Amino acid sequence: MSKKMKLVVLSGSGISAESGIKTFRDTGGLWEEYKIEDVASPEGFEANPKLVLDFYNQRRKQLGEVQPNDAHRILAELEQDFNVQIITQNVDNLHERAGSSKVLHLHGELTKVRSTKHPHLVYNVGYKPVNWGDKCEKGHQLRPHIVWFGEAVPAIEQAILEVQKADIFVVIGTSLNVYPAANLGAYTKTDIPKFLIDPNNVNIPQNQKYTIIQKTAGEGMKELKQILSKLQ
Ligand code: OAD
Repeated sequence: MSKKMKLVVLSGSGISAESGIKTFRDTGGLWEEYKIEDVASPEGFEANPKLVLDFYNQRRKQLGEVQPNDAHRILAELEQDFNVQIITQNVDNLHERAGSSKVLHLHGELTKVRSTKHPHLVYNVGYKPVNWGDKCEKGHQLRPHIVWFGEAVPAIEQAILEVQKADIFVVIGTSLNVYPAANLGAYTKTDIPKFLIDPNNVNIPQNQKYTIIQKTAGEGMKELKQILSKLQ
């Protein structure tokens, strides 16, 4: 039996759009409604922790009410034929709920919170709210387990190692505006097939080249599945 090819996928909020989750920078996206620095930075949390906790409480509640879509499902199905590693900028859990077994979260996870004082104390809260006054076992305020702007991205080293081993690399549903995630595509071996799925024009960093599939996530993944079936 031949070894499965390694398919590495970098996903962004666009893959969850058809599940009903808002993207950030599109018209009607979250960053039109909220200021990044207010709800997604350590300074914002310091200035108004209740606003920040509430912002993530809303996102977490909504996550419990939505379902994975075709794009998440096709990626999970591809594990039958490929060694699939998902690297996601998303803080939702829709890849996991669709059945993907290897998901690396670059920007944290909505269903987890952690101690403000002891970052290794991480707790699963599911879809429940976390409020001002909710504390870790050592008595310190809990905060969302999210990587905010200005904070380090602890999973990036592992993500780079995965991308370096890819036989095929796919980018889906991300504007490639946020670093270091946007630079991951520069770490692939040369001459592997690289695809980018997005219904809109993406400002691709100059150090990266892709075959563009200009479709929404669900339709784009259907097309990619056909293309991949010929690459094995
Ligand atoms: P953006 O909002 O920047 O980009 C969303 C991308 O999804 C755009 O390129 C859209 O064209 C595309 N899109 C929209 N609808 C789609 C659909 N139905 N199918 C496929 N693609 C679609 O979101 P991200 O690139 O994910 O970080 O943003 C990156 C990071 O910035 C996020 O992880 C978040 C944000 O601030 C943090 O909060 C730390």
